[in-house]
Amino acid sequence: MSLPPSSRLRFTDDLTICRILNGMWQVSGAHGAIDPRRAVDEMFAYHDAGFTTWDLADHYGPAEDFIGNFRHLFAHRYGTRRLAEIQAFTKWVPHPGRMTRRIVEEAIGVSLSRMGVECLDLLQFHWWDYSDKSYLEALDHLADLQREGKIRHLALTNFDTERLRVITDHGIPIVSNQVQYSLVDRRPEGRMAVFCREHRITLLAYGTLLGGLLSEKYLGQPEPPRGELNTASLQKYKRMIDAWGGWALFQELLAALKQIADKHQVSIANVGIRYILDRPAVASAIVGARLGVAQHIADNARVFGFELDAEDHTMIGPVLAKSRDLMKSIGDCGDEYR
Ligand SMILES: NC(=O)c1ccc[n+]([C@@H]2O[C@H](COP(=O)([O-])OP(=O)(O)OC[C@H]3O[C@@H](n4cnc5c(N)ncnc54)[C@H](OP(=O)(O)O)[C@@H]3O)[C@@H](O)[C@H]2O)c1
Repeated sequence: MSLPPSSRLRFTDDLTICRILNGMWQVSGAHGAIDPRRAVDEMFAYHDAGFTTWDLADHYGPAEDFIGNFRHLFAHRYGTRRLAEIQAFTKWVPHPGRMTRRIVEEAIGVSLSRMGVECLDLLQFHWWDYSDKSYLEALDHLADLQREGKIRHLALTNFDTERLRVITDHGIPIVSNQVQYSLVDRRPEGRMAVFCREHRITLLAYGTLLGGLLSEKYLGQPEPPRGELNTASLQKYKRMIDAWGGWALFQELLAALKQIADKHQVSIANVGIRYILDRPAVASAIVGARLGVAQHIADNARVFGFELDAEDHTMIGPVLAKSRDLMKSIGDCGDEYR
Protein backbone atom coordinates (compact mmCIF):
# COMPACT_ATOMS: atom_id res chain seq x y z
CA MET A 1 0.00 0.00 0.00
CA SER A 2 1.21 3.50 -0.67
CA LEU A 3 -0.57 6.75 0.01
CA PRO A 4 -1.54 9.13 -2.81
CA PRO A 5 0.36 12.42 -3.39
CA SER A 6 -2.48 14.31 -1.66
CA SER A 7 -1.29 12.75 1.61
CA ARG A 8 1.91 14.79 1.42
CA LEU A 9 2.39 18.40 2.42
CA ARG A 10 5.33 20.71 1.94
CA PHE A 11 5.47 21.71 5.59
CA THR A 12 8.57 23.89 5.25
CA ASP A 13 11.00 24.55 2.40
CA ASP A 14 13.05 21.54 3.46
CA LEU A 15 10.47 19.16 4.95
CA THR A 16 7.65 17.29 3.25
CA ILE A 17 5.43 15.40 5.66
CA CYS A 18 2.44 13.08 5.76
CA ARG A 19 -0.81 14.89 6.60
CA ILE A 20 -1.55 12.21 9.18
CA LEU A 21 1.14 12.11 11.85
CA ASN A 22 1.67 9.01 13.96
CA GLY A 23 1.15 10.09 17.56
CA MET A 24 3.42 8.48 20.13
CA TRP A 25 1.81 9.56 23.40
CA GLN A 26 0.17 6.13 23.03
CA VAL A 27 3.50 4.40 23.83
CA SER A 28 4.00 6.33 27.08
CA GLY A 29 2.43 3.66 29.29
CA ALA A 30 -0.75 5.62 29.93
CA HIS A 31 -2.58 3.71 27.19
CA GLY A 32 -1.70 0.12 28.09
CA ALA A 33 1.54 -1.83 28.11
CA ILE A 34 3.77 -1.60 25.03
CA ASP A 35 6.34 -4.20 23.99
CA PRO A 36 9.33 -2.17 22.73
CA ARG A 37 10.39 -4.72 20.13
CA ARG A 38 6.95 -5.15 18.64
CA ALA A 39 6.42 -1.41 18.74
CA VAL A 40 9.58 -0.57 16.82
CA ASP A 41 8.88 -3.41 14.34
CA GLU A 42 5.46 -1.96 13.68
CA MET A 43 6.93 1.47 12.94
CA PHE A 44 8.10 -0.05 9.65
CA ALA A 45 4.51 -0.88 8.71
CA TYR A 46 3.50 2.77 9.18
CA HIS A 47 6.52 4.08 7.30
CA ASP A 48 6.23 1.61 4.45
CA ALA A 49 2.55 2.50 4.03
CA GLY A 50 3.44 6.19 3.66
CA PHE A 51 2.88 7.39 7.23
CA THR A 52 6.43 8.70 7.54
CA THR A 53 5.96 11.48 10.12
CA TRP A 54 6.02 10.93 13.89
CA ASP A 55 4.87 13.13 16.74
CA LEU A 56 6.52 12.54 20.07
CA ALA A 57 7.80 14.31 23.16
CA ASP A 58 10.55 14.19 25.74
CA HIS A 59 8.01 12.97 28.32
CA TYR A 60 6.18 10.30 26.26
CA GLY A 61 7.99 7.41 28.02
CA PRO A 62 10.28 5.63 25.55
CA ALA A 63 9.03 7.47 22.42
CA GLU A 64 12.30 9.26 21.65
CA ASP A 65 14.23 6.00 22.19
CA PHE A 66 11.84 4.22 19.83
CA ILE A 67 12.71 6.77 17.13
CA GLY A 68 16.41 6.16 17.83
CA ASN A 69 15.97 2.38 17.59
CA PHE A 70 13.77 2.65 14.52
CA ARG A 71 16.31 4.85 12.72
CA HIS A 72 19.06 2.41 13.61
CA LEU A 73 17.18 -0.60 12.23
CA PHE A 74 15.94 1.42 9.26
CA ALA A 75 19.48 2.39 8.27
CA HIS A 76 20.50 -1.25 8.54
CA ARG A 77 17.56 -2.41 6.40
CA TYR A 78 17.34 0.37 3.80
CA GLY A 79 20.68 2.21 4.00
CA THR A 80 21.49 5.52 5.68
CA ARG A 81 20.55 7.63 2.67
CA ARG A 82 16.90 6.72 3.08
CA LEU A 83 16.84 8.00 6.69
CA ALA A 84 15.85 11.35 5.21
CA GLU A 85 12.42 9.79 4.51
CA ILE A 86 11.61 9.85 8.24
CA GLN A 87 10.35 13.01 9.94
CA ALA A 88 10.30 13.01 13.74
CA PHE A 89 8.74 15.95 15.57
CA THR A 90 9.50 16.02 19.27
CA LYS A 91 8.56 18.39 22.11
CA TRP A 92 10.25 19.90 25.06
CA VAL A 93 8.00 20.38 28.09
CA PRO A 94 10.26 21.90 30.74
CA HIS A 95 9.47 22.07 34.44
CA PRO A 96 8.76 25.66 35.45
CA GLY A 97 11.82 27.62 36.51
CA ARG A 98 14.77 29.59 35.14
CA MET A 99 15.65 28.98 31.53
CA THR A 100 19.41 29.28 31.24
CA ARG A 101 21.34 28.37 28.11
CA ARG A 102 22.74 25.34 29.97
CA ILE A 103 19.30 23.99 30.92
CA VAL A 104 17.94 24.43 27.40
CA GLU A 105 21.00 23.00 25.69
CA GLU A 106 21.08 19.98 27.99
CA ALA A 107 17.43 19.18 27.31
CA ILE A 108 17.90 19.40 23.55
CA GLY A 109 21.06 17.32 23.85
CA VAL A 110 19.11 14.53 25.55
CA SER A 111 16.52 14.46 22.74
CA LEU A 112 19.23 14.47 20.05
CA SER A 113 21.00 11.59 21.67
CA ARG A 114 17.88 9.50 22.38
CA MET A 115 16.59 9.97 18.84
CA GLY A 116 20.01 9.35 17.27
CA VAL A 117 19.97 12.53 15.17
CA GLU A 118 22.31 15.49 14.82
CA CYS A 119 19.47 17.92 14.24
CA LEU A 120 15.84 17.77 15.44
CA ASP A 121 13.40 18.14 12.52
CA LEU A 122 10.94 20.08 14.67
CA LEU A 123 11.10 21.08 18.32
CA GLN A 124 7.69 21.92 19.77
CA PHE A 125 7.93 23.95 22.96
CA HIS A 126 5.34 23.85 25.75
CA TRP A 127 5.05 26.23 28.70
CA TRP A 128 2.85 25.84 31.78
CA ASP A 129 2.58 29.33 33.23
CA TYR A 130 2.31 32.52 31.18
CA SER A 131 2.84 34.70 34.27
CA ASP A 132 6.44 33.46 34.18
CA LYS A 133 7.87 35.22 31.14
CA SER A 134 10.97 32.99 31.05
CA TYR A 135 9.35 31.23 28.09
CA LEU A 136 10.81 33.99 25.92
CA GLU A 137 14.26 33.33 27.39
CA ALA A 138 13.89 29.63 26.64
CA LEU A 139 12.82 30.41 23.08
CA ASP A 140 15.78 32.76 22.60
CA HIS A 141 18.13 29.92 23.58
CA LEU A 142 16.23 27.51 21.31
CA ALA A 143 16.60 29.99 18.43
CA ASP A 144 20.37 30.09 19.13
CA LEU A 145 20.48 26.29 19.02
CA GLN A 146 18.56 26.43 15.76
CA ARG A 147 21.19 28.79 14.28
CA GLU A 148 23.86 26.36 15.50
CA GLY A 149 22.21 23.54 13.52
CA LYS A 150 20.74 21.47 16.36
CA ILE A 151 17.12 22.25 15.53
CA ARG A 152 15.74 22.54 12.01
CA HIS A 153 12.47 24.30 12.89
CA LEU A 154 10.94 25.77 16.01
CA ALA A 155 7.32 25.20 16.91
CA LEU A 156 4.96 25.44 19.87
CA THR A 157 2.34 23.31 21.47
CA ASN A 158 -0.74 24.43 23.40
CA PHE A 159 0.09 28.13 23.17
CA ASP A 160 -2.86 30.52 22.93
CA THR A 161 -3.23 33.21 20.27
CA GLU A 162 -2.19 36.03 22.59
CA ARG A 163 1.12 34.40 23.50
CA LEU A 164 1.70 33.28 19.90
CA ARG A 165 1.57 36.96 19.01
CA VAL A 166 4.01 37.86 21.82
CA ILE A 167 6.43 35.21 20.55
CA THR A 168 6.24 36.18 16.89
CA ASP A 169 6.56 39.88 17.82
CA HIS A 170 9.66 38.90 19.78
CA GLY A 171 11.13 37.70 16.47
CA ILE A 172 11.13 33.93 17.07
CA PRO A 173 10.45 32.07 13.81
CA ILE A 174 7.62 29.65 14.62
CA VAL A 175 6.39 27.23 11.95
CA SER A 176 3.52 25.47 13.76
CA ASN A 177 1.43 25.24 16.91
CA GLN A 178 0.12 21.86 18.03
CA VAL A 179 -3.36 22.18 19.51
CA GLN A 180 -6.44 20.12 20.28
CA TYR A 181 -8.72 20.28 17.23
CA SER A 182 -11.65 18.01 16.45
CA LEU A 183 -15.31 18.16 15.50
CA VAL A 184 -15.96 18.48 19.24
CA ASP A 185 -13.19 20.93 20.14
CA ARG A 186 -13.23 23.62 17.47
CA ARG A 187 -11.61 26.35 19.58
CA PRO A 188 -8.80 26.89 17.03
CA GLU A 189 -11.47 28.42 14.76
CA GLY A 190 -12.03 31.22 17.28
CA ARG A 191 -8.83 33.23 16.96
CA MET A 192 -5.93 30.88 16.40
CA ALA A 193 -6.48 29.84 12.78
CA VAL A 194 -6.84 33.43 11.54
CA PHE A 195 -3.64 34.51 13.28
CA CYS A 196 -1.79 31.47 11.95
CA ARG A 197 -2.85 32.10 8.38
CA GLU A 198 -1.77 35.74 8.59
CA HIS A 199 1.63 34.70 9.93
CA ARG A 200 2.26 31.63 7.80
CA ILE A 201 2.10 29.35 10.82
CA THR A 202 0.34 25.99 10.55
CA LEU A 203 -1.62 23.92 13.04
CA LEU A 204 -0.91 20.32 13.94
CA ALA A 205 -4.19 18.96 15.32
CA TYR A 206 -4.43 16.38 18.09
CA GLY A 207 -7.44 14.78 19.72
CA THR A 208 -9.07 14.64 16.27
CA LEU A 209 -10.38 11.12 16.96
CA LEU A 210 -11.10 11.85 20.62
CA GLY A 211 -8.89 8.96 21.67
CA GLY A 212 -10.98 6.57 19.55
CA LEU A 213 -14.41 7.75 20.76
CA LEU A 214 -15.07 9.19 17.31
CA SER A 215 -15.61 5.79 15.70
CA GLU A 216 -18.18 3.08 14.98
CA LYS A 217 -17.16 1.39 18.24
CA TYR A 218 -19.07 4.01 20.27
CA LEU A 219 -21.97 4.59 17.85
CA GLY A 220 -25.28 3.71 19.50
CA GLN A 221 -23.53 2.77 22.74
CA PRO A 222 -24.62 3.87 26.21
CA GLU A 223 -22.43 6.40 27.95
CA PRO A 224 -19.29 4.54 29.07
CA PRO A 225 -18.54 4.74 32.79
CA ARG A 226 -15.10 6.16 33.60
CA GLY A 227 -13.81 2.73 34.65
CA GLU A 228 -14.41 1.38 31.14
CA LEU A 229 -12.26 4.04 29.49
CA ASN A 230 -8.92 2.29 29.68
CA THR A 231 -6.55 4.85 28.14
CA ALA A 232 -5.55 8.33 29.31
CA SER A 233 -6.68 9.55 25.93
CA LEU A 234 -10.23 8.15 26.18
CA GLN A 235 -10.61 9.69 29.64
CA LYS A 236 -9.28 13.07 28.50
CA TYR A 237 -11.65 13.35 25.53
CA LYS A 238 -14.68 11.97 27.35
CA ARG A 239 -14.30 14.98 29.66
CA MET A 240 -14.16 17.18 26.57
CA ILE A 241 -17.39 15.64 25.23
CA ASP A 242 -19.06 16.31 28.61
CA ALA A 243 -17.99 19.97 28.45
CA TRP A 244 -19.06 20.23 24.80
CA GLY A 245 -22.61 18.95 25.09
CA GLY A 246 -22.73 15.48 26.60
CA TRP A 247 -23.14 11.92 25.42
CA ALA A 248 -26.60 12.29 23.83
CA LEU A 249 -25.41 15.10 21.56
CA PHE A 250 -22.25 13.14 20.80
CA GLN A 251 -24.45 10.24 19.65
CA GLU A 252 -26.25 12.65 17.30
CA LEU A 253 -22.87 13.65 15.90
CA LEU A 254 -21.77 10.04 15.45
CA ALA A 255 -25.07 9.20 13.71
CA ALA A 256 -24.63 12.09 11.26
CA LEU A 257 -21.01 11.11 10.62
CA LYS A 258 -22.04 7.50 10.03
CA GLN A 259 -24.43 8.54 7.28
CA ILE A 260 -21.71 10.59 5.64
CA ALA A 261 -19.19 7.79 6.06
CA ASP A 262 -21.55 5.25 4.46
CA LYS A 263 -22.17 7.57 1.52
CA HIS A 264 -18.42 7.78 0.82
CA GLN A 265 -17.77 4.15 1.85
CA VAL A 266 -15.33 5.21 4.51
CA SER A 267 -15.33 5.16 8.33
CA ILE A 268 -16.49 7.67 10.94
CA ALA A 269 -12.84 8.23 11.85
CA ASN A 270 -12.06 9.01 8.22
CA VAL A 271 -14.78 11.69 8.13
CA GLY A 272 -13.55 13.19 11.42
CA ILE A 273 -9.96 13.46 10.18
CA ARG A 274 -10.94 14.71 6.71
CA TYR A 275 -13.06 17.48 8.27
CA ILE A 276 -10.12 18.77 10.31
CA LEU A 277 -7.57 18.46 7.47
CA ASP A 278 -9.81 20.70 5.36
CA ARG A 279 -9.91 23.50 7.96
CA PRO A 280 -7.86 26.67 7.41
CA ALA A 281 -4.25 26.61 8.63
CA VAL A 282 -4.27 22.88 9.41
CA ALA A 283 -1.17 21.08 8.16
CA SER A 284 -1.80 17.66 9.67
CA ALA A 285 -3.88 15.67 12.10
CA ILE A 286 -2.01 13.56 14.63
CA VAL A 287 -3.54 10.13 15.16
CA GLY A 288 -2.36 8.18 18.16
CA ALA A 289 -0.79 4.79 17.46
CA ARG A 290 -0.73 2.09 20.14
CA LEU A 291 2.27 0.47 18.49
CA GLY A 292 2.19 -3.31 18.59
CA VAL A 293 -1.25 -3.31 20.28
CA ALA A 294 -3.74 -1.94 17.71
CA GLN A 295 -3.33 -0.32 14.35
CA HIS A 296 -5.62 1.34 11.80
CA ILE A 297 -3.18 1.86 8.93
CA ALA A 298 -5.45 0.66 6.10
CA ASP A 299 -8.47 2.54 7.41
CA ASN A 300 -6.63 5.82 7.96
CA ALA A 301 -5.20 5.61 4.43
CA ARG A 302 -8.77 6.08 3.16
CA VAL A 303 -8.75 9.69 4.44
CA PHE A 304 -6.88 10.59 1.26
CA GLY A 305 -9.38 8.98 -1.10
CA PHE A 306 -12.52 11.10 -0.69
CA GLU A 307 -13.76 14.65 -0.16
CA LEU A 308 -16.52 16.07 1.97
CA ASP A 309 -19.17 17.92 -0.01
CA ALA A 310 -21.66 20.69 0.81
CA GLU A 311 -24.36 18.16 1.69
CA ASP A 312 -22.04 16.57 4.27
CA HIS A 313 -21.35 19.94 5.89
CA THR A 314 -25.09 20.63 5.95
CA MET A 315 -25.59 17.45 7.96
CA ILE A 316 -22.83 18.19 10.45
CA GLY A 317 -23.55 21.90 10.96
CA PRO A 318 -26.88 21.67 12.85
CA VAL A 319 -25.45 19.12 15.32
CA LEU A 320 -22.42 21.30 16.06
CA ALA A 321 -24.71 24.30 16.47
CA LYS A 322 -26.33 22.62 19.50
CA SER A 323 -23.03 22.34 21.38
CA ARG A 324 -21.62 24.66 24.05
CA ASP A 325 -18.99 27.22 23.14
CA LEU A 326 -15.73 25.81 24.54
CA MET A 327 -13.97 29.13 23.95
CA LYS A 328 -16.30 30.56 26.61
CA SER A 329 -16.12 27.68 29.08
CA ILE A 330 -12.45 26.68 28.71
CA GLY A 331 -10.75 29.51 26.86
CA ASP A 332 -8.41 29.65 23.88
CA CYS A 333 -6.21 26.76 22.72
CA GLY A 334 -4.20 25.19 25.50
CA ASP A 335 -6.03 26.95 28.33
CA GLU A 336 -7.19 23.54 29.61
CA TYR A 337 -3.58 23.01 30.76
CA ARG A 338 -3.39 26.25 32.74
N1 LIG B 1 0.45 18.53 22.58
C1 LIG B 1 -0.35 17.91 23.42
O1 LIG B 1 -0.64 18.41 24.52
C2 LIG B 1 -0.96 16.62 23.04
C3 LIG B 1 -2.01 16.08 23.80
C4 LIG B 1 -2.58 14.88 23.38
C5 LIG B 1 -2.10 14.23 22.27
N2 LIG B 1 -1.06 14.76 21.55
C6 LIG B 1 -0.52 14.09 20.35
O2 LIG B 1 -1.59 13.59 19.59
C7 LIG B 1 -1.47 12.18 19.44
C8 LIG B 1 -2.83 11.58 19.35
O3 LIG B 1 -3.30 11.32 20.64
P1 LIG B 1 -4.77 11.57 21.14
O4 LIG B 1 -4.74 11.34 22.59
O5 LIG B 1 -5.25 12.86 20.63
O6 LIG B 1 -5.59 10.35 20.51
P2 LIG B 1 -6.40 10.23 19.14
O7 LIG B 1 -5.48 10.35 18.00
O8 LIG B 1 -7.59 11.10 19.19
O9 LIG B 1 -6.91 8.74 19.31
C9 LIG B 1 -6.04 7.68 19.11
C10 LIG B 1 -6.82 6.37 19.14
O10 LIG B 1 -7.83 6.41 18.15
C11 LIG B 1 -8.08 5.10 17.70
N3 LIG B 1 -8.03 5.10 16.22
C12 LIG B 1 -7.04 5.51 15.41
N4 LIG B 1 -7.39 5.37 14.13
C13 LIG B 1 -8.65 4.85 14.12
C14 LIG B 1 -9.54 4.47 13.11
N5 LIG B 1 -9.25 4.62 11.82
N6 LIG B 1 -10.74 3.97 13.48
C15 LIG B 1 -11.07 3.82 14.78
N7 LIG B 1 -10.26 4.17 15.79
C16 LIG B 1 -9.07 4.69 15.46
C17 LIG B 1 -7.03 4.19 18.28
O11 LIG B 1 -7.62 3.46 19.36
P3 LIG B 1 -7.18 1.95 19.67
O12 LIG B 1 -5.72 2.01 19.92
O13 LIG B 1 -7.96 1.64 20.92
O14 LIG B 1 -7.57 1.11 18.51
C18 LIG B 1 -5.99 5.16 18.79
O15 LIG B 1 -5.30 4.68 19.91
C19 LIG B 1 -0.61 11.75 20.63
O16 LIG B 1 0.05 10.54 20.42
C20 LIG B 1 0.36 12.89 20.69
O17 LIG B 1 1.36 12.72 19.71
C21 LIG B 1 -0.50 15.95 21.92
